[in-house]
Amino acid sequence: MPKDREVREEGDPMKDILQELDRRRDEARLGGGQSRIDSQHAKGKLTARERIDLLLDAGSFEEFDMFKTHRCTDFGMDQHQTYGDGVVTGWGTINGRMVYVFSQDFTVFGGSLSETHAEKICKIMDMAMQNGAPVIGINDSGGARIQEGVASLAGYAEVFQRNIMASGVVPQISVIMGPCAGGAVYSPAMTDFIFMVKDSSYMFVTGPDVVKTVTNEQVTAEELGGASTHTRKSSVADGAFENDVEAMVEVRRLVDLLPLNNREKPPVRPFFDDVARVEDSLDTLIPDSANTPYDMKELILKVADEGDFYEIQEEFAKNIITGFIRLEGSTVGVVANQPMVLAGCLDIDSSRKAARFVRFCDAFEIPILTFVDVPGFLPGTGQELGGVIKHGAKLLFAYGEATVPKVTVITRKAYGGAYDVMASKHLRGDFNYAWPTAEIAVMGAKGATEIIHRGDLGNDEKIAAHTRDYEGRFANPFVAAERGFIDEVIQPRGTRRRVARAFAALRGKKLKNPWKKHDNIPL
Ligand code: HXC
Repeated sequence: MPKDREVREEGDPMKDILQELDRRRDEARLGGGQSRIDSQHAKGKLTARERIDLLLDAGSFEEFDMFKTHRCTDFGMDQHQTYGDGVVTGWGTINGRMVYVFSQDFTVFGGSLSETHAEKICKIMDMAMQNGAPVIGINDSGGARIQEGVASLAGYAEVFQRNIMASGVVPQISVIMGPCAGGAVYSPAMTDFIFMVKDSSYMFVTGPDVVKTVTNEQVTAEELGGASTHTRKSSVADGAFENDVEAMVEVRRLVDLLPLNNREKPPVRPFFDDVARVEDSLDTLIPDSANTPYDMKELILKVADEGDFYEIQEEFAKNIITGFIRLEGSTVGVVANQPMVLAGCLDIDSSRKAARFVRFCDAFEIPILTFVDVPGFLPGTGQELGGVIKHGAKLLFAYGEATVPKVTVITRKAYGGAYDVMASKHLRGDFNYAWPTAEIAVMGAKGATEIIHRGDLGNDEKIAAHTRDYEGRFANPFVAAERGFIDEVIQPRGTRRRVARAFAALRGKKLKNPWKKHDNIPL
């Protein structure tokens, strides 16, 4: 019998070694200790590891750097070492598809970012870019670790640089699951999507205390950076969920819709819906009166496979709708004017919201479906002084530079510059359809009449006749169709089939913009 085998049986040192590994692992898994875990739970929050367990397929998580510790010796920090240094990193799968993940552990120095904590995040980001898989960051952090000074600032900058390099290469998703300050908000700000958890997550560059000191404003954390603030007012966040569990489930749902990287096509899932499904109710979606609103979401849901729609920025700039559906199992990005809010006009907020969404889709080869019912840009000093020219141009620019398949359906109004902007033929729209109810004109008939027949103002009969005349000429899709700006006037009830066939016909689309270092989108 070999000597080492005899030794094992006598003192069983291998058992001791394995036990020591288990002991260290158990210690690492405890993070900042049981009492801090209890306090995390008492706030209705899960721990960093519990969140990863919910996010990833069962048993798929492979951890890196579990035993990494910080190197700081100032302020007695050498006496406070915790395995993992406040962040759990690694990779795993979501419905079998690979993702990289980091999850900050608030029980260790408030999840604050040290030099070594940053190294762990950078390691998985580098691997994600190299291997072509999304990065999901679960943020629960007080920002730069104050005891480390510039070393932690340097660590953040290393993370920021990777956020920038990864942008447009792999999808980056941030979930804010606690109070996040300083660098802990700037890294998410450079990712593709930010989601928050209602009542337990906050995002601010400086918290309420600093605000009070500097500006003398009294504000609560919720008002300054809660989920409601960032999903409704600032638009920093793309969505908010009720609790940690819902957040992880919804991130899984989003990942299912996205390609793993910019070299892959979006995933195709089995679907259980008839591509040629006829929706008779769409024939009466448009009300008789041109000024009566209707819900554009009804059209989106009736066109989507299984009526499934993943909305992005649902609570912000509701006059435009953005989100993902599937058609024949393939992901499609949807942008749609919403006549229920501000008559569906374009303004600063809706242009910014949709432009960012269009650019995400284009970066990751996700085809874009645009539903148009837009009376124009919102007039007013608020808009002009706020720079609607530049912000509106963002959407124009985004649509114009996009090379992915673009299918557009005009349901009702497409007036003025907004007609051009909303994925028109002139911005390289591939299939431009219109419902028979479409009105494509420089402006509404009444406004147009009052300008071109100014001399008849006051003569109601004449003005009414001019208005009817203008309506007869432009309040239909046929003038645009005569010129080929509209490829086909389609039946509303057959929209799903027409749109799905259009995208199917565009699967082999190849279009390249001229070489450039990068463009100069009006920021
Ligand atoms: C070190 C920190 C820390 C930090 C929190 N802790 N933030 N330790 N560095 N940045 C520690 C606390 O000391 C505490 O330790 C534990 O984490 C929990 O924190 P609490 O304050 O008890 O929790 P809570 O009341 O929930 O408040 C959370 C918080 C608050 C809002 C995040 O801790 C806070 O305001 N922290 C400082 C935020 C900040 O100013 N960070 C620097 C940003 S500058 P004990 O041992 O007592 O439990 C930055 C620059 C980057 O990030 C560059 C950007 C461009």
